[in-house]
Amino acid sequence: MALTILCYPDPRLHTVAKPVQAVDDRIRQLARDMIDTMYQASGVGLAATQVNVHERLIVLDVSDTRDQPMVLINPELVWTSPEKKLNEEGCLSVPGIYDGVERHLSVHVKALDEHGNARVIEAEGLLAICVQHEMDHLMGKVFVEYLSLLKRNRIKTKMVKHQRELRAAS
Ligand code: NI
Repeated sequence: MALTILCYPDPRLHTVAKPVQAVDDRIRQLARDMIDTMYQASGVGLAATQVNVHERLIVLDVSDTRDQPMVLINPELVWTSPEKKLNEEGCLSVPGIYDGVERHLSVHVKALDEHGNARVIEAEGLLAICVQHEMDHLMGKVFVEYLSLLKRNRIKTKMVKHQRELRAAS
């Protein structure tokens, strides 16, 4: 079941998520729904925050075949490379906006999977970018907050206008 994605500047996107207390059927169902939502929106990652659930859970799929979903519960960065790189990013919560954000080139992330098993993922490339972007969501941070105030305000205005048009059309 696809869920509704919150759109910037919705204040709920700035909620700090709490740790998942138990990896149970409720969490597995949420993860499945988030994966459906991510695929339907053609995204490579989605954080629970974006579907208005404020628990530390993210889903990702950076494969070309779109059939290798990953579920990371209570993710923690255990290592980050000193090297950083500027990449163009977008976000399902900020449709149509792409801009440069500097991220660690590679990261090691410790997380539970949907069965409650702990593992450490060594991420680089798109996966590393995605993990950092989605983990920011869990802290209530949207990527546009790395941009200048001028740019951010411009994006905010555009998003509010866009959402008003969507409402008028429905
Ligand atoms: Ni995002």
